[in-house]
Amino acid sequence: MKIAIGNDHAAVELKLHIKEYLEAQGHEVIDLGSAMGERMDYPRPAEAVAKRVVSGGAERGILICGTGVGISISANKVRGARCACVSEPVSAQMCRAHNDCNLIAFGARIVGPQLAEAIVDQFLTTPFEGGRHARRVEMIMNLDERQSCD
Ligand code: RB5
Repeated sequence: MKIAIGNDHAAVELKLHIKEYLEAQGHEVIDLGSAMGERMDYPRPAEAVAKRVVSGGAERGILICGTGVGISISANKVRGARCACVSEPVSAQMCRAHNDCNLIAFGARIVGPQLAEAIVDQFLTTPFEGGRHARRVEMIMNLDERQSCD
């Protein structure tokens, strides 16, 4: 699978660990995140990875910052992105099965390398269930068109 990955300066080590983990499984990993010693504000890699996924340049996106929070909020600003911020594998599984997430985020200050591997495994292998969930996902995506505070 072609996977885009992005991170800020708080998550370089975990990004490198996950990149190696995925490449060892034969995935193609496009690294759009910060390198060792490079400071990068999380909205930048979030936008780059989300746009790569939404445009079809990658099948899935993985985002890592300190907590996963800022980078997931940023990714969800890109139209077509559905990014879940998770810290354990069950949510990673369900965000695919019920929410058809095309991106996932987690925090390098929250999860360790083994937990991150389990999260990524669920995210990459769980199919979307469709059915009633498809209608709800469509409702999410239509929220963009119906923005109003009235
Ligand atoms: C950077 O220090 C930190 O704020 C960032 O990685 C992330 O945790 C924000 O949500």
